[in-house]
Amino acid sequence: MGKTIIISNRLPLQINISDNKIEVTPSVGGLATGLKSFHQEGDSIWIGWTGLSSEEIPEDLQDEVEKKAMEQNCVPVSLTTDEIERFYYGFSNRTIWPLFHYFMEYTEFQPEHWEGYKTVNKKYCEAVVERLDDGDTVWVHDYQLLLLPEMIRKKKPNVTIGFFNHIPFPSYEVFRTLPWREEILRGMLGSDLIGFHTYDYERHFLRSVNRILRHDINFNSVNIGNRIVKSDSFPMGIDYNKFRDAALEHRTKPRSENTDIQKKLDYHKYVTRNTKLILSIDRLDYTKGIANRIRAYGYFLEKYPEYQEKVRLIMLAVPSRTNVPQYQLLKKEVDELVGRINGKFATVNWTPIWYFYRSMPFENLIDLYCSSEVALITPTRDGMNLVAKEYISTRIDNTGVLILSEMAGAAHELNEALIINPNNFEQIVDTIKQALEMPEEEQIRRNKVLQRRLKRYSVEKWAEDFMTNLKNTRKTRKAFKTI
Ligand code: ADP
Ligand code: G6P
Repeated sequence: MGKTIIISNRLPLQINISDNKIEVTPSVGGLATGLKSFHQEGDSIWIGWTGLSSEEIPEDLQDEVEKKAMEQNCVPVSLTTDEIERFYYGFSNRTIWPLFHYFMEYTEFQPEHWEGYKTVNKKYCEAVVERLDDGDTVWVHDYQLLLLPEMIRKKKPNVTIGFFNHIPFPSYEVFRTLPWREEILRGMLGSDLIGFHTYDYERHFLRSVNRILRHDINFNSVNIGNRIVKSDSFPMGIDYNKFRDAALEHRTKPRSENTDIQKKLDYHKYVTRNTKLILSIDRLDYTKGIANRIRAYGYFLEKYPEYQEKVRLIMLAVPSRTNVPQYQLLKKEVDELVGRINGKFATVNWTPIWYFYRSMPFENLIDLYCSSEVALITPTRDGMNLVAKEYISTRIDNTGVLILSEMAGAAHELNEALIINPNNFEQIVDTIKQALEMPEEEQIRRNKVLQRRLKRYSVEKWAEDFMTNLKNTRKTRKAFKTI
């Protein structure tokens, strides 16, 4: 039995350097937070980027950066500023990300970004091949590395390769607009098994393969002539016990040990006589429906004025992809909207929105999950959305209401949540009211079912399922010839 090599653009750790000192923090984002548990428990190495360009790491600190990464079985891939610009900010986040999330108007088709994407995928390929031994299994992740499976396959035809796409795969009509659609599909088909969060994404992918490359599809198998490639859906779960245990600890810990945030939450609940908290947590990304969510909340306060001073929206947004213009515009829009609503409705004792634009330690996330009566999650598109699952898992007394967009992959599994269409403004507004007024027995009834499901299909189970299916593909694999 060989080792598993995980490859994703971003490592689960983020390196920062200030005053010639290295600081290591956890990465934010579903891929990193979810997969980390699988990585920590197994015999795997993880290849990826530290978040810094090679120019930002002084020469005398390079060995130490590698050492810090190796302490977590991670291998850093070094990217130059120019590569980051064209590959990461360029093709990954100005072409694939918006296109796959149906933001056609944000999608750029720039040949120099495509060139950068190919170059960096090759760089990852070299880093993998260098460390690949016979019998190893390779697991490639996400939209930044769609070409990698084929590149590895060409160098190591007999290796077992899995690929998991963490974002939606769009419908054929959208995907076909991409000038490099054939190359992208061929890149993915270098794998033995391709995984998606939902059945719909998988069907979209298979249809594109059939229409664009003309390969025969038999149920979920693609016949590419000299090999069979399987696809399937594996909805990613969370480390349920980790969140549950943290929430239990949160409940039993003495007040004196509370974090500053928890103290502030408690104080405000006391002063405002039990104001209810509505929580939203995301990376600051246009796919998350953040601006519309704030507008809907403002309209809610207007339509149901009896809720003024009785409710507060806590909005946590992590800075993300800040070099991409759409993210900068969104930041501005959100700042303005928050300012406008707070300006319009605030009273001496009450601020309608508490807005934090930063990452937070795990402990504080738990404080927020445990203290909020409602979680409001409204993406216009989202591959999965782990925040929804994390919120439910921390509700120790089973109370709490999850409002979730039907456009999130997670909505397929979390039917007992209040499911909304993120474009239906009135519906969001009325659902907020419904959530705030839902009887406790009903909350408990819904959450018990959700929790049972989340516990059963945890991230460990997800990874195990994918790996078992990947290993089974070995049995049926035929010799590889170049496509
Ligand atoms: P995405 O992968 O698009 O970012 P997900 O909801 O699937 O969205 O995953 C986000 C992950 O990042 C979750 O595990 C969540 O706990 C974590 N996270 C989100 N916001 C913050 C924050 N402000 N501080 C720390 N972690 C965060
Ligand atoms: C999503 C993507 C991940 C990505 C994460 C954070 O979860 O699926 O691949 O790592 O967002 O985005 P970033 O651009 O900071 O890596």
